[in-house]
Amino acid sequence: MRNLKYDSKALWRMDRDHYVHPWTDFSTFKETGSDVIAEGDGIYVFDADGKRYIDGIGGLWCVNIGYGREEMAQALAEQARRICYYSTFTHLTTPPAAELAAKLAQLAPGPLNHVFYTTGGSESNDAIARFIAFYFNRLGKKSKKKIIARTDGYHGSTLLTATITGVAFDKIGFDTIEDLVHHIPCPNPYRRPEGMTVEEFGDQCIADLENKILELGPENVAMFFAEPIMGAGGVIVPPPGYHKRAKEVCAKYEVKYISDEVVTGFGRLGHFFASKDNFDLQPDVITTAKGITSGYQPLGAILLSDEIYDVISVPQEKGAMLTNGFTYSGHPIACAAGLKNIEIMEREDICGHVREVGPYFKKRLESLYDLPIVGDVRGSHFMLCVEFVADRKTKALLPPEAAIGNRISRLAQERGAIIRPIGHLNVMSPPLTMTKAQVDDLVEIIRQSATLAMDELKREKLWNG
Ligand SMILES: Cc1ncc(COP(=O)(O)O)c(C=O)c1O
Repeated sequence: MRNLKYDSKALWRMDRDHYVHPWTDFSTFKETGSDVIAEGDGIYVFDADGKRYIDGIGGLWCVNIGYGREEMAQALAEQARRICYYSTFTHLTTPPAAELAAKLAQLAPGPLNHVFYTTGGSESNDAIARFIAFYFNRLGKKSKKKIIARTDGYHGSTLLTATITGVAFDKIGFDTIEDLVHHIPCPNPYRRPEGMTVEEFGDQCIADLENKILELGPENVAMFFAEPIMGAGGVIVPPPGYHKRAKEVCAKYEVKYISDEVVTGFGRLGHFFASKDNFDLQPDVITTAKGITSGYQPLGAILLSDEIYDVISVPQEKGAMLTNGFTYSGHPIACAAGLKNIEIMEREDICGHVREVGPYFKKRLESLYDLPIVGDVRGSHFMLCVEFVADRKTKALLPPEAAIGNRISRLAQERGAIIRPIGHLNVMSPPLTMTKAQVDDLVEIIRQSATLAMDELKREKLWNG
């Protein structure tokens, strides 16, 4: 417990009565409201009453260097004093925007030497779709417009990026843009067809992509969106070689490969970017956000190849401009946060720490296989997930009333850890500074919570073990 002086009840009421939260079940929200998270320190957060939790989700896959870094607070304050904001439209810039662009170009794989700033992941993906359409227009290939993405991929919450997203649950009741985006099946090895090897499944996933391009007509397909490891869609690690082969297919038909590293960027898989270092993929574009500032400021970025930049940096017609950008593109305080965040990551070798502790984290989670409701433990490094099932052999799911993900998250929260429920999964993406001892604490809480959940389910006759 931390001795805090917030009026937690008043905050709870103000929030419930006036704040329209993102991604919230308002059928329960009106009664339960929100838990008010007031402070943070390292891998821990504290609610407004002072109760401490292990932050098993890193804010929302983003607080990579952990909470309460004095150096970060100083860097933001210092930049606010120097200049809080200046436009980067036309021929203006600020020192942090310029320096961070150069640093990102240095960290990014291969010829991704050009940076366009946004304020988050959705905006990065939305903006790149506009850029790529512009790119093909410039080349006179005006029919190349269609986007291919994957079922269960998550790419954002704007109208376009929600359309690119392939999670059916995320679209219930909402409109999408018809006939622009086409989905191919999710490359989830755990749910591959019965009797198929992972290798055969990988071949099938690549064929799915090529067949979709051919079905739509290569002259109509502009880009392919893929996360190196799918996050919100259930921490799906594709079959070995998938991304490299998918890029080869894209290159064959002049389809731009957009690697969505909003979650996987900035150390979560042990490298600044996962595309090349983890998956041997040289994408045409990387989109990113979140860990770029470890959540200390909202910032997103698009990393463009020399080849794309060379095309889009020539106007469509005489006197025209690249008319794309946001007031807060390259915001100096956000860029100062990005620079300091990267400096800390390099100085403390946070990527090296993730490469060391990540495999340990996964191994400790795999110890949960002795619980019969654990169907699959998957993911990589600091991006992990447990899939719960009624029967490990058949992989049958528990009934929806079991609400197993929510149930285990609730039990874990009561025990001092926040983990994210997604359907029948629980997802872990903690700050990257988590130590092995802290991993042990988190896994122990998950074990206790899953064990209690099994008892509850039996009592409620929702599972017979
Ligand atoms: C892979 C991926 N892309 C894009 C986004 C959207 O980012 P934002 O919520 O910052 O708009 C997310 C958010 O979780 C994400 O996981």
